[in-house]
Amino acid sequence: MIEREYHSGTERGHPLTPVNKAGKLSSDAPEKGDLNMSTKVDMDKIVSLCKRRGLIFPSSEIYGGLASCWDYGPMGVELKRNVRDAWWKSIVHERDDVVGLDTSIMMHPGVWAASGHIDSFTDPLVECKSCHLRWRATEIEGEGCPKCGGELTEPRMFNLMFKTFMGPVEEEASTIYLRPETAQGIFVNFENVINTSRKKLPLGIAQIGKSFRNEITPGNFIFRTREFEHMELEYFVKPGTDEEWLDYWVKERFEWYVKLGIRKDNLRLRQHGNDELAHYAKDCYDIEYLFPMGWSELEGIANRSDFDLIQHAKYSGKELSYYDNETNERYVPYVIEPSAGVDRSVLAFLIDAYDEEEVEGEKRTVLHLNPSLAPVKVAILPLSRNEKLTPLAKEVFKKLCLSFVTDYDDSQSIGRRYRRQDEIGTPFCVTIDFESLEDKQVTIRERDSLAQIRVPIEKLDKNLEAKLKGEAFDASPLWATRQK
Ligand code: GAP
Repeated sequence: MIEREYHSGTERGHPLTPVNKAGKLSSDAPEKGDLNMSTKVDMDKIVSLCKRRGLIFPSSEIYGGLASCWDYGPMGVELKRNVRDAWWKSIVHERDDVVGLDTSIMMHPGVWAASGHIDSFTDPLVECKSCHLRWRATEIEGEGCPKCGGELTEPRMFNLMFKTFMGPVEEEASTIYLRPETAQGIFVNFENVINTSRKKLPLGIAQIGKSFRNEITPGNFIFRTREFEHMELEYFVKPGTDEEWLDYWVKERFEWYVKLGIRKDNLRLRQHGNDELAHYAKDCYDIEYLFPMGWSELEGIANRSDFDLIQHAKYSGKELSYYDNETNERYVPYVIEPSAGVDRSVLAFLIDAYDEEEVEGEKRTVLHLNPSLAPVKVAILPLSRNEKLTPLAKEVFKKLCLSFVTDYDDSQSIGRRYRRQDEIGTPFCVTIDFESLEDKQVTIRERDSLAQIRVPIEKLDKNLEAKLKGEAFDASPLWATRQK
């Protein structure tokens, strides 16, 4: 069973608000009762930091932006890649029971009929008869339109899949959809993977890729967007062992966020009520994070039973089952699905890492990101742009950039450069000064403790490597790690 240190919403006495009665697919809105329990950071500060430091920009900004679409800048692209890599490492590379896959975004329309997305991937929508704004019916508290008070239409079901046409003819027969989840690409390749991977069950197939949902009410920065990236694992198990595996994966996934630095107090677990389960789910847990707007879904871990393989077998006419050599049995596997959003994880990591501190009378904003997630690992900062310092500083940069994502910055005062690196969460700054020219040593400044230490250039890469792996740098007590 799942240990009780993972809190369920009910245990804490928070109202559980099923958002989408049609299924779990959009049940990720914040719980209204929790709005006053938000983290100390407000979302505007995160959005502003992201813009200021090249993490995330509004999409098509020079044209006034496009609602709910965001672009990852030079720092954001590194952070996002690190989140993906951390997931892939823990789900695929560090296990021998999971393999990876990369399937196409556009799929045969039959896939979505079989999966239930054409019929069930819907939200109830109402429209204001005066201002014509559209709302999720579940968001309406009073009688009228939340914006102008106008009369609302009766709710009608709105399908969240983006439709387009394949080929030059725009007709019903050529309608296809942009995938709303990556999972279906995995199910339809189940047989290909089983036949080629020489693996036995339990076996997981993992995929990271873009998904698209025409959300009625996107918002809260990159929390809910219409284009986002999924990290999904479909873990195929023998029926009857599914409940154990669900518990296992809930625990694994919860620990993944904690290992990467998210405070346990800001995470909780919530089991779905029966009226909230998606059409395919036998059971489901959400890992929730305390976002600035309240507790909201960070990741869902569902027991999808044998629903998808049975549906695809029915619609495609191909048998999708597994023959167990050891027991001489053939069965349709059950599937446990941990499904996370890259962007939503990025947001949670940013919020949890954000801090404003006072250092020697001055305010500093810092991201205490886990070093493995930090966009830049080391910044090379010559004390000034002096022609005597530049060659040595460049030499150090050239050496370190072979092993770490390294930044080189010699403009403005050293104080300003430190502040910039703190704001993007760079764990180490290396300063080269005039003494370095003589003694071939440089100063390393650590982001969290602000400790400074001098080390020989020739030992720099080994020392940084050890520290980035979490090993002790040396016996110096200055290298304190962040108190959680
Ligand atoms: N295949 C199951 C599935 O997609 P989901 O709960 O709808 O389940 C899983 O989505 C995760 O994907 C969510 O917990 C969230 O992190 C992310 N996600 C879903 N919709 C999103 C959206 N519109 N914008 C950003 N992330 C989203």
